[in-house]
Amino acid sequence: MPSLGVNIDHIATIRQARRTVEPDPVAAAVLAELGGADGITVHLREDRRHIQDRDVRILRETVRTHLNLEMAPTEEMVNIALDIKPDYVTLVPELRAEITTEGGINLLSNLVDFTEIVKRLQGAGIPVSWFIDADLAQIEAATKTQAQFIELHTGKYAEAEGEKNRQLELDCLHRGCEQAIALGLRVNLGHGLTYTNVYPVVSLPGVEELNIGHTIISRAVLVGIERAVREMKLAIRGQL
Ligand code: PXP
Repeated sequence: MPSLGVNIDHIATIRQARRTVEPDPVAAAVLAELGGADGITVHLREDRRHIQDRDVRILRETVRTHLNLEMAPTEEMVNIALDIKPDYVTLVPELRAEITTEGGINLLSNLVDFTEIVKRLQGAGIPVSWFIDADLAQIEAATKTQAQFIELHTGKYAEAEGEKNRQLELDCLHRGCEQAIALGLRVNLGHGLTYTNVYPVVSLPGVEELNIGHTIISRAVLVGIERAVREMKLAIRGQL
């Protein structure tokens, strides 16, 4: 069974809405691990819209499972990763205006520089994963960069409408996993996975980790609201 990497970016999104100190992603990571998370994932974006440098630094010290740092393949981010040394790095495309990571990276656009980035990170003992679509050309390119991992983008599967289209996307992921494993890559999956669509991807061949964020934080907000209100009532009565 694949392990579960919990993406806690949205905790920081709520905090940044007020530029305050709560909720703290560091506290969220502790609780996620208590809940059984096998890893903690954060995306340090160039615009720092949610996770901050301070979060990554403290998480490096406090995460007891493993810390997966998602980041763009830029000089700034590579230097931060070399300094902080997460357990592994997932390299993702980043567009300033996007709401979330919209697609896999196009490795063919800059294979020489991308290979150099992998060399620098893996040379420092940080395994690299490329976030790519389940496309043979991209999978082969990932192999050429010498990266140890890929994370196949599950967004198309998650968004597919109708059972037939969903099955087609699942087949595509299945092929992608097989091709990657045959080429010696290790495979993770992520993006758009939810409580209702996760089960069919669990048995895709060779998948090691599922990185899931939005649906878990969304559910956490809802299942926690009743207790949170109850506790505020106690606080108002001086009984907390
Ligand atoms: N994997 C990668 C590479 C991502 O960029 C994201 C979103 O930040 C995720 C997984 C998690 O996606 P979601 O929040 O839809 O579960």
